[in-house]
Amino acid sequence: MAHRTFQSPEQTRAFGQRLGETAVSGCVAALVGELGAGKTCLSQGIAAGLSVRGPITSPTFVIVQAYPDGRLPFFHADYYRLGEDSELVELGLDEILEGEGVVAVEWADRFWETLPADHLRLTLEFGGPLTRSLAVEATGPRSAAWWEAARVD
Ligand SMILES: Nc1ncnc2c1ncn2[C@@H]1O[C@H](COP(=O)(O)OP(=O)(O)OP(=O)(O)O)[C@@H](O)[C@H]1O
Ligand SMILES: [Mg+2]
Repeated sequence: MAHRTFQSPEQTRAFGQRLGETAVSGCVAALVGELGAGKTCLSQGIAAGLSVRGPITSPTFVIVQAYPDGRLPFFHADYYRLGEDSELVELGLDEILEGEGVVAVEWADRFWETLPADHLRLTLEFGGPLTRSLAVEATGPRSAAWWEAARVD
């Protein structure tokens, strides 16, 4: 498990951007953390790193928001209001996101079972008003390779 500390939203976004720049098709980021921890901020960075145009907002009323215009298709999901009976929970992300693309899932811990076994787990915690700490855990070879490419240390 690797750890990072960010002292501003810009730092968090820049870290996400690095993830977006190094992602390959099939990369899945599982974002975990309380309200306001910075999951959307990280997602916006990933999208920027994939050269996605247009604002990334929280896809609260759709299952997964697709952004097809970047270097790779980007899919942004938010499980905060997702119900147990949703199509996504029944099928899982694998079936819904067929084909190419990079995925970021906010509140992934609400439905771990929907994620592919191999994903990059990004857990954000509050350190102070502008401080967030991040734990990074790769759960398989694809996410480990992604983290190896993205990490700068
Ligand atoms: N170091 C930091 N990194 C990220 N966000 C920060 C940081 N410091 C302060 N913030 C603020 O915290 C908030 C993070 O909001 P964000 O929408 O990214 O959180 P979230 O985890 O997606 O919340 P939600 O669960 O509501 O979706 C923003 O208002 C941002 O300006
Ligand atoms: Mg959010």
